[in-house]
Formats: sequence, structure tokens, C-alpha cells
Amino acid sequence: MRPESIDLAGKTIVITGASTGIGAVAARELHELGANVLMTGRSPEKTRAVAESIGAEPLIADFAKLDDVRRLAADINERVERIDTLINNAGGTFKPGNRTPDGHEPNFQINHLSPFLLTALLHGKLAASPAPRVINTSSIANRVGKIVLDDLDWERRHATETRAYGSGKLMNILHARELARRWAPEGITGTAFHPGPVASEFGRDSFWVGVAYRTPLKRFWSITVEQGASPIVDLATRADRESINGVYLHRHKPSTRTAKQATDAELASALWQRSAELAGISPDI
Ligand SMILES: NC(=O)c1ccc[n+]([C@@H]2O[C@H](COP(=O)([O-])OP(=O)(O)OC[C@H]3O[C@@H](n4cnc5c(N)ncnc54)[C@H](OP(=O)(O)O)[C@@H]3O)[C@@H](O)[C@H]2O)c1
Repeated sequence: MRPESIDLAGKTIVITGASTGIGAVAARELHELGANVLMTGRSPEKTRAVAESIGAEPLIADFAKLDDVRRLAADINERVERIDTLINNAGGTFKPGNRTPDGHEPNFQINHLSPFLLTALLHGKLAASPAPRVINTSSIANRVGKIVLDDLDWERRHATETRAYGSGKLMNILHARELARRWAPEGITGTAFHPGPVASEFGRDSFWVGVAYRTPLKRFWSITVEQGASPIVDLATRADRESINGVYLHRHKPSTRTAKQATDAELASALWQRSAELAGISPDI
């Protein structure tokens, strides 16, 4: 344990997207550091395999379905007294022409709306921790994102996969910033980060991103899942969580390499409001 790290013994950590990739590696490392890790995934088989390796129950939810997220939140709320750290890591790139069973553009729902709803429904258990933190896995792709509040589902604009994905990841930054502001009285901090170009299963739901991530040439530009997971472990353990509250990091370091909209406080508040409406919850949750 590094001197500036907190002791994870007795801490409860919820991590989504932990059935594979950087989430699976981070779940195992956080478990080894002594945390009680609750891990979620979409694929029951993959989630079960990782859960078994850390002695946890597999929690299954498809973020393309808001009802799955509601059920997942109810399940977690029943299992734990408090949550010290919530890591919103599930996500990926999806064909923007598709619609989720809830009727949303998939990059918007899976990368933002579902994690937004999950975070809101776990608010009470976060508030019960003495030093709660929320960590959102964003992406450098946020730089090509563009949020249009009355067109979050890309019905009036032409959506490319990169722009729709980047917009979801831009929302992860605004979500972290806005929760840091709204939930400050309870001491809940919010941080978003880019893990780097990780050679994971990333891109498997998408033709074009999949092509880039499946090429053998990726060894020249990508990092390993262990390297990609290291910012998650760092952010979940560093003692100075206040110093990165409301901050976006490029791996381990605060970064200003974001879309302009990432620092728009009015937009962050309006996005929270609109997301709450679409998720069917009160914005004051
Ligand atoms: N890899 C990169 O270069 C890179 C760069 C920047 C940001 N990121 C972000 O890092 C995070 C982790 O990605 P990764 O690289 O570890 O990719 P990965 O290996 O593809 O893992 C993605 C995780 O998200 C879960 N997931 C995907 N769609 C889901 C859905 N509809 N409902 C619930 N869970 C879902 C997957 O679950 P199943 O496996 O069970 O389906 C898996 O656990 C993502 O948010 C990604 O956007 C990755």
C-alpha cells in the first residue's frame, strides 16, 4: 500500500462493467487490497467467473434496460449498509442507429443514462459512508462529443458512432462535476477519468471501433488491461479524494483535454435535470 493510500479493509466498493476488461482487473485488485467488492456485468457467464474468483455474488444487469438498473440498485441497497466507492465503469461503443428496449440511442443510455440512474438510486447508501466517492470511467473521446439537451437520443442530428460515444463520455464528466456540487453537503466526491487506449474487449459491440481494436497492430498503440485498470485502483484508494473532486483526469493526472462543454456548469445542471426526467426520478434525489 502506498503511503498516500487509504486502507480498504472494511470498505464497500461497487464496480460496474467488471465482467471483463479494466473493470475485472480493478475488481480483483480492490478485493486483494481488502475491500468488500460488489461487481456487476451484462454477461452472466463472464460475470460469474470473475465474481467466483473474488468470492463475490455476480450481479447481472443490462444497462440497455432501465428496469435492470432499478432491479440492480434495489439488490445492492438490500445487500449493504453503505457504499464507500461507486465505480461507474460499464460502457462501450454501440451502433447509434439502433435503439435500446427503452427507446434510447444506446451510447447515450448505456454510457450515461443508466449509470446516472444507478448512482441516483444508490445515493442514500453513498451518503451513509464517512468518505464516499464516485468514479466515472470516461474517455478522451469526450472531446468529439456534443450535447444537445433536447436531442440526447440523436433523432434530429446525424450520429456517427464516435460522436455518439464521445457525447456519452462527455456526460460522464458533467455527471461527476454536477454530483460533486449537488452532493457536497454529504461529502460525496465525483471524479471522471480516461483510462488510456486499452487492449480489452472494447469495440466488440461495434463494427468500426471493433476493427481498430481487433487488429494485431494494436500492440503498437495500446496498453494492457492491467495498465488501464491502474487509474481505477488509484482513484479508489488515494487519500486526497477532495483534491480531485469534480476533476477529469487523463489516467492519473488532472487534464484539461476535454470538449468545451465539459466545463459548462449550467449545462451540467441542465443535463442532470433532463436525465432525471428521462429516468423517471426526482432531480432532487
Ligand atoms: N478500452 C479503451 O481503449 C477505453 C478507452 C477509454 C474509455 N474506455 C471505457 O472504459 C470502460 C471499460 O471498458 P473496457 O476497455 O474494459 O472494455 P470491455 O472489455 O469491453 O468491458 C466493458 C464492460 O462494460 C460492460 N458493458 C458493456 N455494455 C453493457 C451493457 N449494455 N450493460 C451492462 N454492462 C455493459 C461489459 O459487460 P459484458 O462483458 O458482461 O457484456 C464489460 O464488463 C468503458 O466505459 C469504456 O467506454 C475504454
